[in-house]
Amino acid sequence: WEIRTEQLKDRATDEKLKEIRTALEYGEVVGIPTETVYGLAGDATNPEAIQKIFAAKNRPGDNPLIVHIHSMDQLADFTEPLDMKVRTLMKHFWPGPISFILPLKGKMLASNTVAELDSVAVRMPSHPVGHAILEKVGFPLAAPSANLSGKPSPTDYSHVIDDLNGKVYGVVASDPATYGLESTVLDCTQFPYRIARPGSITKGALENVLKETVSKHEGSAEQPIAPGMKYKHYAPRQPLVVIEGGLRNNTHLRVGEGQKIGVIAPEAARNHVPEHAYFISLCSGESDYREAGRNLYAALRKMDKSEVDLIYIHGFPKNEETEALMNRIYKATGNEIIKEDPK
Ligand code: TXA
Ligand code: MG
Repeated sequence: WEIRTEQLKDRATDEKLKEIRTALEYGEVVGIPTETVYGLAGDATNPEAIQKIFAAKNRPGDNPLIVHIHSMDQLADFTEPLDMKVRTLMKHFWPGPISFILPLKGKMLASNTVAELDSVAVRMPSHPVGHAILEKVGFPLAAPSANLSGKPSPTDYSHVIDDLNGKVYGVVASDPATYGLESTVLDCTQFPYRIARPGSITKGALENVLKETVSKHEGSAEQPIAPGMKYKHYAPRQPLVVIEGGLRNNTHLRVGEGQKIGVIAPEAARNHVPEHAYFISLCSGESDYREAGRNLYAALRKMDKSEVDLIYIHGFPKNEETEALMNRIYKATGNEIIKEDPK
């Protein structure tokens, strides 16, 4: 199905939305657009649909899914009554790139949706097409990122097709994701609230609204708060080296005999890239972090498909705005962090 945002008002679109609803009602799984990354959606109340999601992605069963909704009213069906503070945050940031972990209530959601936990992560996406699908469907949709487990998340529908063609019922071809990094995951099951996965909505932004401290605690590698954070993620097949401090004039990029290297960096740093390297531009200027976030996964996927043997990626300065971006870059190295000191 092709549904671009500008096609939402077309009559043909309503027919497509109905078909998507029917497929989901029958327990099929469908790739849908969101503003963060594309999701692989299935009926969160149907254990067979959820099983199809895990199977298509080859995802470990102990990694719970995020449940997507179009209206806060839906929460009363499967979460405990909301704390005033959670409500305030939702009203402020939803629809948008943040998921809240809340205490689970009742048996409406399939137990494999939440990997048998007693909490559930929920999100209301702002992508007009994703939102329209959720509204049309009516029931909550579980949707992890629509990539094969371990691969970079899909920021364009073509990535979903590359990874999941033949394994899912259908994919909605829509606009590319505007954020390009997965949502912030905020654990609200205890005080102070904790960021279990950094995203575009930062600790500072949350604290500004809450007027309270938010802790930043992803847990340990073996015992993360969000189980998904323990797996190697977002990784291309080749080794990835972060150039800490960024690509500079005098940065020495080691190249083995007969090795082909790739470099992912801002356009502004292109003149420091050796001629023999395969260059992919991540953003225009060195501080265009939003743009870098939007393009990161597509760049990693392009490198993965290329012939290069080793990839260097520009390390951005550590600050609040780059936190999610650098978190994903480091995860893509598999946390075997190889530092290349600018000499
Ligand atoms: O932006 C996003 O969040 C995208 C789009 C599709 O909405 N979805 C996404 O889902 O990134 P996924 O499954 O790739 O990542 C969900 C993360 C995982 O790290 C998972 O462990 C964590 O959220 N999570 C989900 N439910 C949880 C729970 N009840 N407790 C702790 N962590 C949870
Ligand atoms: Mg994922």
